Amino acid sequence: MLENTVKMEKAGMSSATNSQERGQWSSRVAFILAATGSAVGLGNIWKFPYITGENGGGAFVLVYLACIAVIGIPIMMAETFIGRRGQQNPVSTMKKLAAESGASKLWSGVGWLGIIAGFIILSFYSVVAGWAIYYVVEMASGTFNSVTPAQTQEIFTGLLKDDKSLLLWHSVFMVMTAFVVSRGVSGGLEKAARLLMPGLFILLMILLAYAYNNGDFSKGIDFLFNADFSKLTGKSVLIALGHSFFTLSLGMGAIMVYGSYLPKNVSVAKTTFSIAFLDTIVALVAGMVIFPIVFASPELSASGGPGLLFQTLPVAFSNMPGGTFFGFIFFILIVFAAWTSAISLLEPAVSWAAENTKLGRTTSTVLISAVIWFVGIGSLLSFNDWSEYKLFGKNFFDLSDFLASNIMLPLGGLLIALFAGYAVTKTVSKEELNLGSKYDLWRFVIRYISPILVLYVFLEVSGINEFIRSTGVWKSLVAAF
Ligand code: TRP
Repeated sequence: MLENTVKMEKAGMSSATNSQERGQWSSRVAFILAATGSAVGLGNIWKFPYITGENGGGAFVLVYLACIAVIGIPIMMAETFIGRRGQQNPVSTMKKLAAESGASKLWSGVGWLGIIAGFIILSFYSVVAGWAIYYVVEMASGTFNSVTPAQTQEIFTGLLKDDKSLLLWHSVFMVMTAFVVSRGVSGGLEKAARLLMPGLFILLMILLAYAYNNGDFSKGIDFLFNADFSKLTGKSVLIALGHSFFTLSLGMGAIMVYGSYLPKNVSVAKTTFSIAFLDTIVALVAGMVIFPIVFASPELSASGGPGLLFQTLPVAFSNMPGGTFFGFIFFILIVFAAWTSAISLLEPAVSWAAENTKLGRTTSTVLISAVIWFVGIGSLLSFNDWSEYKLFGKNFFDLSDFLASNIMLPLGGLLIALFAGYAVTKTVSKEELNLGSKYDLWRFVIRYISPILVLYVFLEVSGINEFIRSTGVWKSLVAAF
C-alpha cells in the first residue's frame, strides 16, 4: 500500500517535471496547421476520390459532408478538449481526466487502444506512402512519359511484386517520419507543419489550375457535385460515416495528443471548425483535380478503386501537355500529405514513452518506429511472398487495415464520445469548450447522436451486425415486441 503511494507520487512527480518540459504549439495557427496536417493525408487524396468514384459521386459527397458535421466535428471537439485538459499523452490524459471526474481508471484503456491503432495504421500507411515516393522518382525520371493503361498497370503490379523496392520506400518514409517526431513539438511537428502545409496548398492550387485548363473540368465538377441519390446505397452511407472518422484522424488519440500541446487561451470549437473545413476543402479540391484529369481521357473511368491514383491517373497525366511534370508535382503533394499524417500516427506512442519511461524522446522514437517499420514488412510482403497467407480471407495488409480502421477507430471514437458525454463532468467540458449557448447542442449530440451513429458503423463494418442478423436475434426481438 505504502509502496504503491510512493510509486504513484514518483510517477506524479516525474510527469509534473516532464510537463514543464512539454512542448506547446506557438500559436493557434500552428495548431491548426499541424492538426490539418494530420487530417489531410492519403485519406483525402487517395481514398476520398476513389470511394466517391465507386459510390456514384455527388450524393455520396453530400452524405459525407453531413457525417463530418454530425459525428466528425463534435468528436473532434471532444478529443481536443480532453487532450488540452490532460496535458499529457493519451493514456495518462484519460487516466487523469477519469480521476478528476470520479470515473473508472479503466478509461485509460482508450489511450492504449489508440496507441496500438496508431501503430497498426502507420505500419501499412507507410507502405502506401512509399509507393507515392516511388512514383515521384519515376515521374521525375520519365518512366511515365506516354504510357498506356496496360503499361501503368504493369509498372504498379511490378512494384507490388518487388519486395526489395517496397522495403526501400517503406524504410525511407519511416525514417522521414521518425526524423520529424524525434525533434519534438516545436522543432519537429510544428516546423514540419509550417513548411509542408503551405507547400501542400500551393501544389494543390497549381494542380487545380492545371486541371481547369487541361482537364474536362465541367465533367469532373458535375461528377463530384451532381447528386444522384439513386446511386446511393446503405453501404455508401456506411463508407461515408467510416471515412469521416478516418479523414479527421479521430478515434485514436492523435488529435488528443495534439490538443495536449494547445495553449489554454485558444478556442477549441473555432479551431476544430477550421480544421474540419480545411480537411474537407482539400478532399474536394483533390477530387476537382483528379476527376477532370481522368475524364480528359475518354477511355478511362473514375471508378478504378484503389488503383485510381496509381494506375488510372498516370495514364491520364501522360495524355496531357506537360503531364509528367504535373504528375511529379501531384505525387509530391501526396508524399507531403502522408508525411504530416504519419507524424500524428507516431506521436501518441512516442509521447507516452517519453513521458513514462526514462528513454527520452529520441530513443523512444527510434525504438517505436523500428517496431512499426518491422510490422510494416508484413504488409508489404502481403503483395508478394505472403499473398497466399490469409486469415478470414484477408492478407496481412487488408487485415491490418480492417482491424485498425474498421474495428479500433470506431470503437475508440465511440468510447471517446461516451467518455466526453457521460464520464467527464459537465463542469469540466463546459469550461474547456467555452461554447456559450451552443454548449447544450454539443452535449446533446455527443451523448445521443454521435455514439449511436458510431455504434451503428462499428457493428456494421466489424461484421458483428451481420453475425447477429444471421442468428436471427433481431427478428425474434422484433417479434417479441
Ligand atoms: N487522417 C489521415 C488521412 O486522412 C490519416 C490519419 C492520420 C489518421 N492520423 C490518424 C487516421 C489518426 C486515423 C487516426 O489520411
